[in-house]
Amino acid sequence: MRILVAPDVEALAARAAELVAARIAEGSCRLALAGGNTPRPVYRRLAERPELPWSGVEIFFGDERLVPPDDPASNEGMARATLLDALPAPGPRVHRIETERGAEGAATHYATLLSKPLDLVLLGMGGDGHTASLFPGGPLDGAAVIATESPVPPHRRVSLSLSTLNAADQVVLLVAGEDKATRLAEAFAQRVRPMTERRLPVALLAPRGELWWLLDAAAASALPSSVMEET
Ligand code: 6PG
Repeated sequence: MRILVAPDVEALAARAAELVAARIAEGSCRLALAGGNTPRPVYRRLAERPELPWSGVEIFFGDERLVPPDDPASNEGMARATLLDALPAPGPRVHRIETERGAEGAATHYATLLSKPLDLVLLGMGGDGHTASLFPGGPLDGAAVIATESPVPPHRRVSLSLSTLNAADQVVLLVAGEDKATRLAEAFAQRVRPMTERRLPVALLAPRGELWWLLDAAAASALPSSVMEET
């Protein structure tokens, strides 16, 4: 695992966009986007890179709230507003999580699109240590895509499962802000324990390939300085 620390959230976003752009430039990329707020500046930077071979990219979503795409809480809606709608045609192939099927129906349908591993998965971490829509104490696996319950609304979620996330070639976890520092340090400490003893879903990320934690200094402020690389 590599822990890269950027001075602030804008520098974090620039570094994350570089990582994603480098993988897209290799051609033929199955890319899963994170929801929430942290990825927004990353997507806006990627929207400024129309020259990348976007037509070779397949876009997936790490998770979705059970709302329509035009709902302000929609992860798909956020990705379209900050990145996808700005890209030149033909652009990437976008695989929606079809929330109109209901949580279980959308999960079952989405799993049929994930027969091959993802190349690059962007994720965030919630204040409780959740990632995608895998929450502490909730379901983590059992299928490629699962329906879950969030403690905060929108409660019904659809999420890639832990095994799908860990089948990816590369996972980049994006965390910013002082409010995440203590939980992130807890997740780091859990990583020295057996997987079965790790309570936080974010501590269970162990992709087939590389795992990057891409942090701003505020989020990294409770980690041992010896484990970090400055970006
Ligand atoms: C979601 C995301 C979720 C998010 C974290 C962090 O649907 O909300 O998938 O896992 O990444 O909650 O969110 P912020 O980036 O807004 O802090």
